[in-house]
Amino acid sequence: KRLILVGPPGSGKGTQSPIIKDEYCLCHLATGDMLRAAVAAKTPLGVKAKEAMDKGELVSDDLVVGIIDEAMKKPSCQKGFILDGFPRTVVQAEKLDEMLKNQGSKVDKVLNFSIDDAILEERITGRWIHPSSGRTYHTKFAPPKVQGVDDVTGEPLIQRKDDTAEVLKSRLEAFHRQTEPVIDYYSKKGMVATLPAEKPPKEVTVEVQKVLSEK
Ligand code: AP5
Ligand code: ZN
Repeated sequence: KRLILVGPPGSGKGTQSPIIKDEYCLCHLATGDMLRAAVAAKTPLGVKAKEAMDKGELVSDDLVVGIIDEAMKKPSCQKGFILDGFPRTVVQAEKLDEMLKNQGSKVDKVLNFSIDDAILEERITGRWIHPSSGRTYHTKFAPPKVQGVDDVTGEPLIQRKDDTAEVLKSRLEAFHRQTEPVIDYYSKKGMVATLPAEKPPKEVTVEVQKVLSEK
C-alpha cells in the first residue's frame, strides 16, 4: 500500500505509523524525523531547515521534495510506503503525483487525522521522543516504563525544540493555511478517509485497520 498520513501537530501520525508499518511491511518516511536528523547532524540541509522548524513554519517545498525523492528510491520503499508529514502543501502533493507517475504508481489512500485544535497543546507539551528510532511517549497518555528512558534501548528521551505552546500556535496556523488545502486536493480525487484522532491510541489503530482492510 501507498499511504499518506495527514493531520495537525500531535494528531497521532507518528504514533500510528510504526503499527501500520509493521502490519503491512511498508517503509515509514517522516519528513519531520528526517529533517530533525539533518539538523542534529548539522548537514547543509539541516542548516537550511533549522530556522523555519524552530519557528514552527514549513521548510521550503524544494528541500522536502528533494529528501522524499531520494528516500523513496530505497529498495524497502518499492512495495509500499507511509508518508508521515508529507505532502504538506499543494505544490508538494503535485510534485509527489508527478514522481509516482514517472514510476508507474500512485497513492492508494490518504488518512486524515481529524482532531480539535484544543486537545493538541496537552499532547504536544507532554511528548517525549527517542530521537534515533522516532519512538514517541507521553507523560500522561503513553508513559515509558522508566521515566525519561526509551523502553527498547534504555537510551535517554528528549523533548522536541518545537514542542512548546508558543511554537505550536505557528505550527497549527501553518497546518490550517497550507496543509488543509492538501486534504481538499485529495478529497476531490476521492482518496481521503477521515479518522477520529481524538480517540485513545488503540481505538485509532482499530479505525486505521478498518480503512486499510477496505478494498
Ligand atoms: P513533523 O515532525 O511532521 O511534526 P508535526 O506535523 O507537527 O506532527 P507531530 O510530529 O508533532 O505530530 P504527530 O501527529 O506525529 O503526533 P504524535 O503521534 O507524535 O514536522 C516538524 C517540522 O518539520 C514542521 O513544523 C516543519 O518545519 C518541518 N516539516 C516537516 N515536514 C515538512 C514538509 N512536508 N514540508 C515542509 N516542512 C516540513 O503524538 C503526539 C503526542 O501525543 C505523543 O506524545 C503521543 O504519545 C500522544 N498521542 C498520540 N496519539 C494519541 C492519542 N490517540 N491519545 C492520546 N495521546 C496520543
Ligand atoms: Zn510526528
